[in-house]
Amino acid sequence: MKTSTTKIDIQKASRSKIKNVDFNNLSFGQVFTDHMMVCDYKDGMWQTPTIKPYGPFELDPSAKVFHYGQAVFEGMKAFKDEKDQIWLFRPEKNFERINKSSERLAIPAFPRDYFFTAMEELLKLEREWIKKGFGNSLYVRPFVIATEAGVSAAPAKEYKFMIICSPAQAYYSGEVRVQISEKFSRAADGGVGFAKAAGNYAAQFYPTNLAKDEGFQQIVWTDASTHEYLEEAGTMNVFFRVGDKLLTAPTNDRILNGVTRDSVISLAKEYNIDLEIRRVSVKEIIEAAKSGELKEMFGSGTATVINPISGFGYAGEKYELPKLEDSYARFFKDKLTKIQYNQAEDKFGWRY
Ligand code: COI
Repeated sequence: MKTSTTKIDIQKASRSKIKNVDFNNLSFGQVFTDHMMVCDYKDGMWQTPTIKPYGPFELDPSAKVFHYGQAVFEGMKAFKDEKDQIWLFRPEKNFERINKSSERLAIPAFPRDYFFTAMEELLKLEREWIKKGFGNSLYVRPFVIATEAGVSAAPAKEYKFMIICSPAQAYYSGEVRVQISEKFSRAADGGVGFAKAAGNYAAQFYPTNLAKDEGFQQIVWTDASTHEYLEEAGTMNVFFRVGDKLLTAPTNDRILNGVTRDSVISLAKEYNIDLEIRRVSVKEIIEAAKSGELKEMFGSGTATVINPISGFGYAGEKYELPKLEDSYARFFKDKLTKIQYNQAEDKFGWRY
């Protein structure tokens, strides 16, 4: 693919909004920084990336993203260490994945040097928005939308690749109870479950609302053909601890190849935790819950890092999980966050 130039145009905001922000009371994804990155695709190539003041922009009402959902996104976090250095966690993985997601939605690949140069320049401008201390981060949201006008159902010839940033604290506050789905699925074989396609998330809202009405915060999605196997929890990958064994489903075209999931797997291997990556059935988890062998369930994802699950529901029954002092969830969260905030050795080379 032809690319234009690696130069970035930078238009600085005339004043910062940062003074109006209460960094101790942030709701996830509600406040955005002063700048955003925008790069247009037209005439068969990505144009010069621009960093400009954050704000709304115009699109034709017939733009394909509105009609056919040709849109993908990523989620990453930037952290500040005690020496005021800024670190991203495994951004290479997000770069690879956004282009994998794009390929599945017939969106042109974004050039690596644009991605990293634009991200670095943007984070340099927004460094005051990244606060020190565990739990504080800047959530970085790259995304691509089809902007070409016209409702013909074919891939667009014009796109916008954008990066916006939002200061973040913890994603879910409080306990998470999940409902194992008996009917709904988030993905099917041959579909787009592995991609961070915008529509995958829209399709979760309705079943999740139904689960909320029954007192659960999230759904554990089961496979589309049998509903006998556990796949993901809400917007997270999911892990189970049965006895001391850690279980998680293998990635495939239904399951997102989560960066945090992959990191937990690497840490489990490093610390000799008994790990099985295989299909996990609803039946075995219910039996383990009944026998007391099911010690933990937790979700993993960029936004949440590690999210312990305190109980679950299935077929009208409710199951509580024990509160453990030595939980795997706590162990992995501690290991991951220490690497993310540059407070531990980075054996795997994850910090950028
Ligand atoms: C992430 O953890 O990055 C996610 O994709 C969650 C997001 C939908 C808020």
